[in-house]
Amino acid sequence: MEFSQYAVDNLMYITNRPQLVCVEGQGMWLTDNNGKRYLDYLQGWAVNCLGHSPQCIQDALNAQVKKLINPSPAFYNEPSIKLATLLTDHSCFDRVFFANSGAEANEGAFKLARKWGKVNKNAAGENRYEIITFDHSFHGRTIAAMSASGKAGWDTIFAPQVPGFHKATLNDIASVEKLITDKTVAVMLEPVQGEAGVIPATREFMQALRTLTKQHNLLLIADEVQTGMGRCGEMFAYQLSGIEPDIMTLGKGIGGGVPLAALLAKEEIAIFEAGEQGGTYNGNPLMTAVGVAVAETLIAPGFLQSVKDKGDYLGRELTKLSDKHGLAGERGEGLLRALKLGKDIGPQIVDKARDLQPVGLLLNSPRPDLLRFMPSLNVTTEELDQMIALLSGVLTDLDC
Ligand SMILES: Cc1ncc(COP(=O)(O)O)c(C=O)c1O
Repeated sequence: MEFSQYAVDNLMYITNRPQLVCVEGQGMWLTDNNGKRYLDYLQGWAVNCLGHSPQCIQDALNAQVKKLINPSPAFYNEPSIKLATLLTDHSCFDRVFFANSGAEANEGAFKLARKWGKVNKNAAGENRYEIITFDHSFHGRTIAAMSASGKAGWDTIFAPQVPGFHKATLNDIASVEKLITDKTVAVMLEPVQGEAGVIPATREFMQALRTLTKQHNLLLIADEVQTGMGRCGEMFAYQLSGIEPDIMTLGKGIGGGVPLAALLAKEEIAIFEAGEQGGTYNGNPLMTAVGVAVAETLIAPGFLQSVKDKGDYLGRELTKLSDKHGLAGERGEGLLRALKLGKDIGPQIVDKARDLQPVGLLLNSPRPDLLRFMPSLNVTTEELDQMIALLSGVLTDLDC
């Protein structure tokens, strides 16, 4: 395909993409190179928590770009200090390291856990470095993050893996207990497994995990790259179960669409020594200024309650849709939800919805028997209704 005088094939092939080029975005709407509009329920894969190009991000970027883009991580800068303060003030954590992607934040979490396991050795005086993660989990695409992930097939694609990651079963505390050895240093999980198909860890499981990790002097790491920053109706999803992890990673929503991520830890865990962690772009003021604008919007009175309300509304509407079309129900937390289709028609629905005229609908099917919904957190009820109506039409067309 050609776009202007450029050939898309000059990009390295990494996945199959539809024959369109995105040129503009506003709120819940995307426009392609032919001027066609799409109601966007991907939002950059749960990244644009305030929709496409929100005014507060435009303002933050415009103001910061004129002031200071990157003084290097060798120096402090104002937006990163401000964002770290906003995050620690609204979470159980004391220290923040900024990164550029969720995978990089998770790499930082693995390093911090291994460092802690070197300082807090086992009874035999050996370093502890093993991390228990979960089947079907997704922690990113670096080699270590892929090794931590429980995605089928990922153990062989770029083998050998980074050693030391062992997979338990989500919501099965005995399966975690069984994997604990004298080398174990941490347990890491997504409070809601996103890529696996929006599977929440139960409140009871989160609480049992906290008790178990404390009993064995293990760290509890929450990967909140997808669930954090208001997505599940609380600022962070761990708050839904009333527990406190030792380490948390953030990505996606924290930057509202720009590359920003974070590694947060309790004071006593934040034990990196000089030179052990860093990165050229980490904590640069241009991205962290955007993070400040996003965080200030999320913590404004009433915002998180509106996410909860709209999440409940979407859940109810998806249940009605499921009943109407004989599907298998819905699940999720806040505005991270899934519709269970009961059969492998997800990819077909995604294609048909995108090709609707005059406006298309952008949906995501992380598993063939399921659709995942990741609207902006400020989506309107009308935009939720519009999606349900468009999707219902597609399901009828498919004889569901
Ligand atoms: C839970 C979770 N962790 C980590 C990542 C990786 O984030 P990134 O793609 O920014 O590296 C993702 C991305 O989907 C994710 O959902």
